[in-house]
Amino acid sequence: MAEPKKLFIRTYGCQMNVYDSERMAEAMGAEGYVATDRPEDADMILLNTCHIREKAAEKVYSELGRLKPLKAANPDLKIGVTGCVAQAEGAEIMRRQPAVDMVVGPQSYHRLPVMARGGVEAGLEEDKFEHLPARSRAARAPAAFLTVQEGCDKFCAFCVVPYTRGAEVSRPAERVLAEARDLVARGVREITLLGQNVNAYHGAGPDGEWSLARLIRELAKIDGLDRIRFTTSHPNDMNDDLIAAHGAEPKLMPYLHLPVQSGSDRILKAMNRKHSAEGYLRLIERLRAARPDILISGDLIVGFPGETEEDFEATMELVRAVEYGQCYSFKYSARPGTPAAERDPVPAAVADARLQRLQALLAEQQRAAQEAMVGREVSVLFEKPGRAPGQMVGKSEHLHAVHVTDPALRAGDLARVRITASARNSLAGEIAH
Ligand code: SAH
Ligand code: SF4
Ligand code: F3S
Repeated sequence: MAEPKKLFIRTYGCQMNVYDSERMAEAMGAEGYVATDRPEDADMILLNTCHIREKAAEKVYSELGRLKPLKAANPDLKIGVTGCVAQAEGAEIMRRQPAVDMVVGPQSYHRLPVMARGGVEAGLEEDKFEHLPARSRAARAPAAFLTVQEGCDKFCAFCVVPYTRGAEVSRPAERVLAEARDLVARGVREITLLGQNVNAYHGAGPDGEWSLARLIRELAKIDGLDRIRFTTSHPNDMNDDLIAAHGAEPKLMPYLHLPVQSGSDRILKAMNRKHSAEGYLRLIERLRAARPDILISGDLIVGFPGETEEDFEATMELVRAVEYGQCYSFKYSARPGTPAAERDPVPAAVADARLQRLQALLAEQQRAAQEAMVGREVSVLFEKPGRAPGQMVGKSEHLHAVHVTDPALRAGDLARVRITASARNSLAGEIAH
């Protein structure tokens, strides 16, 4: 019998790309491809790309340059570019790097198997979720992503997502529930619901439209599903129902990623965010009233065009008021086709210096949040072996990585752990007896 064909996928960018890569691997599995983690063994290589900042997009071309020589060794090798760079740059990618055979944007993954066979492209855009083949019954890791909503209609002035992921679409509730049950049957205990604006979810349900809060309540009824998370949320879609769910639904984890981008109302307006710094702070207060120990995470951009020292100070002020448990911060990167790319940039040295100051403050807040866990007993879902012998790594309810050395632990165990120490990006502990 001939050897099965091998597929290598490299994933960049956000969790939605991670989810999409899994689905593409399953779709290609139905075509007879098996996964490999060695590009030099592959018959097909897919780079699932991210366009969010210039650096992310440029990485793709350097990786393609490295992969190109593999075609000399294996003339049948096909190289495809998927994801947000594929959507944003299209056939231009093949002009810049002729080794590329296929370019497939995120709305067209259902066409991948046909394209891989060398088939002709279908005409209309369809719902990719419904056309990918049914999932295999293979066992899964204890924590999984599940896309419930995709695309964005918000058009923040800096952001490519509305162009690369298209208009906002919610998946029907029954399909989400069916996929969740399937995941649980395959060993999954924690599901993170994904969407670019996941809290704007409004999927069709059997009795009218369901909100994200309703979807979470129904998911929580699935036996064997222990933890539910969702990401990423927009402040303007954080409604009462969802805030209340954080206090009412024990399976909903006490962690919320709620990007604010800036603490200056002037900059928020220029960003087209349609919320104020004060409005954001009020939301955080209400979330903490519903669930006092909730850990808040976020995203911030420094050096947005027009940002003055005073605007930046307002961001620092907001960060001090929120006390993030964890927060991502980025230097503004001009993206072709977005409104902000037309505006006068802040000098790079100024933006760099602000980013450093902001990151020092955020690192201090993260350290404090982690230190506060030392001595406490927390619940940890163990996911995989750690680097040291007999060590396992899992996630706490607050999404802290926790290391425990105990030879009896297995992936998929949910255990009480006493936290003994805090390191840079993780906690260490021992099983509580
Ligand atoms: N709501 C989305 C945001 C996606 S982009 C979500 O699902 O996460 C993730 C973060 O990247 C944004 O919150 C923003 O902080 C940052 N970002 C987006 N465009 C950027 C740009 N042009 N320059 C720098 N950072 C950017
Ligand atoms: Fe981008 Fe703004 Fe949409 Fe988030 S809400 S994906 S930052 S346009
Ligand atoms: Fe990047 Fe696209 Fe996600 S641009 S962040 S991979 S939606």
